[in-house]
Amino acid sequence: MDLKIAVLSGDGIGPEIMRQGIAVMNAIANKYGHQFSYTEAICGAHAIDAVGDPFPEETFKVCMDADAVLFAAVGDLRFDNNPTAKVRPEQGLLAMRKKLGLFANIRPVATFDCLLHKSPLKEELLRGADFIVIRELTGGMYFGEKYQDNDKAYDTDIYTRPEIERILKVAFEYAMKRNKHLTVVDKANVLASSRLWRQIAKEMEPSYPEVTTDYMFIDNAAMRVLTEPRFFDVIVTENTFGDILTDETSCITGSMGLQPSASLGEHTPLFEPVHGSWPQAAGKNLANPVAQILSAAMLLEHFGLNQEGALIRTAVDASLDANVRTPEIQIEGGEHYGTEEVGKWIADYIANA
Ligand code: IPM
Ligand code: MN
Repeated sequence: MDLKIAVLSGDGIGPEIMRQGIAVMNAIANKYGHQFSYTEAICGAHAIDAVGDPFPEETFKVCMDADAVLFAAVGDLRFDNNPTAKVRPEQGLLAMRKKLGLFANIRPVATFDCLLHKSPLKEELLRGADFIVIRELTGGMYFGEKYQDNDKAYDTDIYTRPEIERILKVAFEYAMKRNKHLTVVDKANVLASSRLWRQIAKEMEPSYPEVTTDYMFIDNAAMRVLTEPRFFDVIVTENTFGDILTDETSCITGSMGLQPSASLGEHTPLFEPVHGSWPQAAGKNLANPVAQILSAAMLLEHFGLNQEGALIRTAVDASLDANVRTPEIQIEGGEHYGTEEVGKWIADYIANA
């Protein structure tokens, strides 16, 4: 298969983990005879420095022209520590989501048996937990009308019927492909926008008779994902709730450095780790490349390259089992492996498989 990939490495640890993501994609291309071509483009703090815009028009064009975007992370301490900065790297991320119409963010939550002890939660509770959170990504408070003066500020949590219908359709379809259990997470006891979500979900339920659909308030869901993670199969929720819930669910996996995601929508699909740019670790060969590598696996699976995706997953599992791990998940007394060594081990495993 020929795939044109836009490569957006961004800031902080982005370029380092991206190199390993690409090395793994290349190992797959060699093994299976695919042609993957890469076009790099700037975004985030880098792009602010270069052209004053965290998601420049040129980058947008590169993304629109590609079959898929492989994205790493944006963010920089210079902006985090400066509340008055007029342009921020994160604005580029939001502009990218909006302009590419990436309304469905798929965040899988799975465990690795050998890393269960890394979670702050009890092992027996976690074993076998495997669900996905589908976060609406281009609506709600993030993009609704905002206002701020010295005495008053507001953000509007606005959703329209078409926005709700399209994300729920994605969720029902994922549930059909998985264990046919959908949980709609909202705050319908308080918020009007949530009541519309719930109304539309109930209207759509009869079209998916095989799916068991239940409804849960976000505060309750925040508790249940930790106390009963095996209950869930597919969760769908609005932008803000999904943002918060998926940081929380990352502690089920044991490390932010292991969590990939896909953002799908109207134009080019995008694949990125859930974690951020970790500027403190930039250039230190410390960051875990696995979330980026698994994002590449999700990219390939999106195009039906399931065997290829599965081989990447097998290679990642093997690296963890062999204790070829970055420091944050390494066993006590285990050897030191950096970003590059872990990436190379996984790419070599694929080449020799
Ligand atoms: C995420 C991030 C972003 C978000 C930030 C960086 C704007 O936290 O992708 O979850 O809030 O969506
Ligand atoms: Mn977040």
